Amino acid sequence: MPTISYRLKTINHQLSSSPPLNACLNYGILLIIMMKASALAHPNIAFIKYWGMIDEDRRLPANDSLSMNIGCLSTRTAVTLDPQLSEDVLVLNGEAVSGTAQKRVQAFMDHIRQQADNPAYTLVESTNNFPIGAGLASSASAFAALALAGSTAFGLNLSEKALSSLARFGSGSACRSIPGGFVEWHTDPETGESYASSIVHPDHWKLIDCIAILSDEHKPVGSEAGMKTAESSPLQQTRVLDAPRRLEACREAILQRDFAALADITELDSNLMHAVMMTSDPPLFYWHPQSLALMKAVRAWRAEGLNAAYTLDAGPNVHVICTQDSMGEILSRLRHFPAVIDVITGLPAGPARLLT
Ligand code: DP6
Repeated sequence: MPTISYRLKTINHQLSSSPPLNACLNYGILLIIMMKASALAHPNIAFIKYWGMIDEDRRLPANDSLSMNIGCLSTRTAVTLDPQLSEDVLVLNGEAVSGTAQKRVQAFMDHIRQQADNPAYTLVESTNNFPIGAGLASSASAFAALALAGSTAFGLNLSEKALSSLARFGSGSACRSIPGGFVEWHTDPETGESYASSIVHPDHWKLIDCIAILSDEHKPVGSEAGMKTAESSPLQQTRVLDAPRRLEACREAILQRDFAALADITELDSNLMHAVMMTSDPPLFYWHPQSLALMKAVRAWRAEGLNAAYTLDAGPNVHVICTQDSMGEILSRLRHFPAVIDVITGLPAGPARLLT
């Protein structure tokens, strides 16, 4: 359960039924409610990627996608309502943040304020245990944790489906960090319904995501800005049209624990997304030379009999997905690979959850 604390002060607040609070109002005592909730969420790595939107206002993606939550990486976020504030205050890894990041959080919190019918601004304190903005899907875990902590702090008790649907307004991929394990994000363009749900729980297949860090610098063009130009690539339509087939093949590979099939479809999907990025106007080159060298090495390792497959998000770091029996050898090779500065590993993880 979230921490909820009440503080007496000024107010013009329509409170519902809590007897002690009503008693306060009856006595004409001016009252303010200070509510706080904290949540944790994991980032996710997509095997079938989302890139491009068909409707920016309703945040509807061009294609459905499929991902796995990454254990050991997480964002923890606490949201505290404070009616004394005149805007949302964002504190990221202990430092107050202004500019684009604060505006993005405030725009997201507006969705929650609207649903809760409560105009209060908030203090948002968030910490990540991994580098942000380097293609490790920090916005996914950030907005999943914020959706859960924020909606709870405002007294909303949203279902998983409603939370996932809400989280995508912060960052599309965040909707996939709400449910646990292996997750699909579906959209019905007719109704505008768009949310993610689990296809299997985290224990179904103990794949490991070994993330080879080639750079922990903030990428120059984030996903949000980058995907706005997706339609300018002559390859985007082809990528999107073929997405249902790839998604089906990927789901089947996961359900059957068929690593060879998963490797083929995951690498194809990653290559297709990067082909779109590189052929957009202006072109986006997220790979570093060593990203490509590592992708080629991973394919060679697979040809040797190791279970390893690569996928890259909007950044140069290479996610090497492997099975438990291949992990030791893969980790040792990654750690010795030129330009790899660190390797982070994560098993499939559970859903976003409230912290006490
Ligand atoms: C390359 O969810 O970060 O990681 O919705 O604009 O915030 P916005 O983008 P974001 O895009 C993620 C794109 C990706 C692929 C994926 O995770 O599906």
